[in-house]
Amino acid sequence: MIGWGARVTEPERPVLLEYLATHFGVTRPQPAPSPAGAELLGTRCHVCHDSALIDQQRLNVDGWRREIGKMRAWGARLTDPEQATLADYLAVR
Ligand code: HEC
Repeated sequence: MIGWGARVTEPERPVLLEYLATHFGVTRPQPAPSPAGAELLGTRCHVCHDSALIDQQRLNVDGWRREIGKMRAWGARLTDPEQATLADYLAVR
């Protein structure tokens, strides 16, 4: 990127690399999927369909919250806190 014109000074370089490695590195530790999320998936989502539709999706937490909100509008039975727990679970599993 520096070769393409990004302006980064020598002293800034290690700071930037550290930040990128921490927040976007491939070895960034992921939070463990919660058992509560797995339980909600089994009891509230598999009522209407199996996991195939769910496994195809690669969404982040916000995307899952929206998707689960849509499912609630279609009849999935979850409270707001359960929706948050399940979205967190689906985003990291
Ligand atoms: C009341 C029935 C019902 C429940 C409960 C339900 N779904 Fe769905 N879901 C559907 C229907 C109907 C579709 C559309 C199926 C299709 O397109 O073939 C769907 C589709 C989906 C899709 C595919 C993308 C899309 O939007 O069409 C995803 C992802 C999904 N559901 C996730 C979930 C999750 C996560 C839960 C648990 C919170 C859940 N569903 C619970 C009825 C339900």
